[in-house]
Amino acid sequence: METKILKINPFDVNLEKINIAADIIKLGGLVVFPTETVYGLGANALNENAVKKIYKAKGRPADNPLIMHFDKLEKIKDYVYITEELLEKIKIFVPGPITFVLKRKSIVPNIITANMDTVAVRIPAHPIANKLIEMSGVPIAAPSANLSGKPSPTIAEHVVEDMKGRVDVIIDGGNVDFGLESTVIDLTEEIPTILRPGPITPENLKEVFGKIKIPDFVYGKGKVDTAKAPGMKYRHYAPDKKTILVEYSENRINIIKEKIKNYKNPLLVIFEEDKKFFNEYDIMISGSKDNYYKIAVNLFSILRDADKTDNDVIIIEGVLDKGLGISIMNRLRKASSEIWGE
Ligand code: TXA
Ligand code: MG
Repeated sequence: METKILKINPFDVNLEKINIAADIIKLGGLVVFPTETVYGLGANALNENAVKKIYKAKGRPADNPLIMHFDKLEKIKDYVYITEELLEKIKIFVPGPITFVLKRKSIVPNIITANMDTVAVRIPAHPIANKLIEMSGVPIAAPSANLSGKPSPTIAEHVVEDMKGRVDVIIDGGNVDFGLESTVIDLTEEIPTILRPGPITPENLKEVFGKIKIPDFVYGKGKVDTAKAPGMKYRHYAPDKKTILVEYSENRINIIKEKIKNYKNPLLVIFEEDKKFFNEYDIMISGSKDNYYKIAVNLFSILRDADKTDNDVIIIEGVLDKGLGISIMNRLRKASSEIWGE
């Protein structure tokens, strides 16, 4: 398949180019587009054949449901059951990097929900995503635009790596804002439950909902409730190389120094503050231990770059499970096959 690449400036959105992409969506094709979180792989959510192509292009298991993207919050009412009271609450986060799981109406195709009785809906804030959905005139089903199991794409080069030849159009809209996928929150029960931590933190959510639940699996502990969070059981965000996560602690330098001796050709992904302790090793800087936003936005890029070196193992420093750190650690725990801690 030939893939057309359209470069669009998010600060000055070219509507003619968006229109080309919107026509592809209307015709049942696949369009990769930037959102404020990560790039998405989109198709007309109401066209079952088009949605099938998403699963095929990604190599995604059929039991992992997709998010329906809308340009305006009001429109979700045609597809989900929601009270006016709840709608008022979620308005505060919309548009933005958050996805709501709600009871679905029967108009939602089964292929999107993997036959569940709920559907995930999101209203992205990115101007290109928003215009594309509006001009397509239909909701757009879109997972992250990576091959299944790989880190989500945060720059157009990653999308090209994974999706060239598999989709009709790639919109290159430059860098994303957050670099981690949206927070997924289940609103089908009395107390909202976080299914995937993301840019909207538990603290943000508590301000609006009061009480929220954070299951242990969000922190990499306990069993994933696969009936509620089917996507969380998959190893994800993972480099091909063996990846080791070092839990954050005051003692992290000593732990690394001791254990790294067992490896011939390791690559250390560490905070700029810790670089000075490891001059004799290959190093990539993840950011500063005091700036989680910077670490988050570069995280998937670094994992991809780290995978391309000739080192035989990636050793990466983790952060605290606090605020945005919860999402960073959620992704890093899934990316790694071994954890070093105290
Ligand atoms: O930031 C994002 O959310 C990006 C951009 C493109 O919007 N999309 C994204 O999609 O990350 P994806 O498919 O890679 O992740 C969606 C997650 C999966 O873990 C999936 O299992 C979960 O949302 N999900 C989708 N529908 C669900 C449902 N009805 N109930 C529970 N989880 C659901
Ligand atoms: Mg994904």
